[in-house]
Amino acid sequence: MLILAIESSCDDTAAAVLEPESRIRSSVVSSQNEIHARFGGIVPELASRRHIEMIRPVVDQALEQAGVGLDDIDLVAATQGPGLVGSLLVGFTFAKALALVRGLPCVGVDHMAGHLLSCLLEDPRPAFPYTALIVSGGNTSLFSVDDPLTFSRLGRTRDDAAGEAFDKVAKLLGLGYPGGPMISRLAAEGDPTAIAFPRARLDADSLDFSFSGLKTSVAAQINACRSQSEGPSVADICASFQEAVVDVLADKTLAAAERTGHGRVVLGGGVAANPRLRTVLAERCADNGLELFLPAPALCTDNAAMIGLAGYYRFLGNHLAEADADAYSRSPLN
Ligand code: KG4
Repeated sequence: MLILAIESSCDDTAAAVLEPESRIRSSVVSSQNEIHARFGGIVPELASRRHIEMIRPVVDQALEQAGVGLDDIDLVAATQGPGLVGSLLVGFTFAKALALVRGLPCVGVDHMAGHLLSCLLEDPRPAFPYTALIVSGGNTSLFSVDDPLTFSRLGRTRDDAAGEAFDKVAKLLGLGYPGGPMISRLAAEGDPTAIAFPRARLDADSLDFSFSGLKTSVAAQINACRSQSEGPSVADICASFQEAVVDVLADKTLAAAERTGHGRVVLGGGVAANPRLRTVLAERCADNGLELFLPAPALCTDNAAMIGLAGYYRFLGNHLAEADADAYSRSPLN
C-alpha cells in the first residue's frame, strides 16, 4: 500500500509518500519561517495564503521524489486538526478533493496522533504501550499510548507550550523566530547555573506544566540587565532558561513513566530537537532503567510522514473522512 500524506496545521506545508510499516519514500517540508520571522510569530492569514500557493508544488515534489504518480497511490491522509483552521482547511480540503476525484479513500488525522506515532517511522521502534512527551510550539503534553489508536492524556500545559516559551523569550532577546534553535545554540556557550529561574512543579502529583511564570521571570531579568552595566550574558540567560524548561520536562516525564509503569518513553514535537533535552532525558531514563526512543529531529518537527502513518492506522480502523468533514482547531486528545 502507498499513502500520500499532507500536513498543513500551522506554518509548514508538508507532503510525504510512504509504505506503512516499512519506509518513507519521500518527505517534503516547505517552511514559512522567512514570512513570519519579522513578526516574531506566526500570522495565521499569511500562513493560509502561503499554504494555498505551496500545496500543489509540495505534493508534486513528494510524488516525484518517491518516483510515483497519483495512479500508484492507494490512500490519502491529511491533518484534520488541531491547528490554525485556515491552514488546516487548505491541506485537508486538497486531500479530500484529490481522493474524491481519484476514487481513493481519505482519512483525517489528528496532528497529536502523528507526533505520538512518529517514533514508529524508524528503527528501533518501541513496542506498545509507551509513555510519550509531546513538546512543540503549540503543545506540551504527556500521554499514555496503548496502541496506534488509543491515547490517554496524563498531563498538559496550563498556559504556554514549551516551544512557545522558547519563541517568546527569543523575541524578548531580539533573536528572531523560531526561537528554539537560536536559544539552544547560544545556551551551549552559557552557564546554566548563572540564574536560578523558577521551576513550576504545580501540585505534587500533577503531571501538568506551566511556563508563563518562567517567561515573566526571564522578562524581568532582561529588563534588569538593561539598567545594569554588568550582568549575565545573553548566553547565560539562554542556558539558564533552557535548563529550567528541560528540568521540568524531564522531571514530569519520569514521574509519568513511573505512574504508567511503562518501561518505554518516547519524545516528539519540535522542542524534541533540543540537544539539552535529549541529553538530560537520555541520562535520566538510563538511570531509571527506562528505554528512551528519540526520533530523528526531522521526524520530531512537523512533517507529513507521521500523518501518513497515523492515517494508515485510522484506515485499518475504518475511520474514513466524509467529503463534508470539517477541520478542527482543538484536539479531542488534548
Ligand atoms: O512541532 P513543531 O515543528 O511545530 C509547531 O509546534 O508548530 O515545533 C516548533 C517549535 C517552535 O516553538 C520552535 O522554537 C521549537 O519547536 N524548537 C526548539 C528547537 N527547535 C525547534 N525548541 C528548543 N530547542 C530547539 N533546538
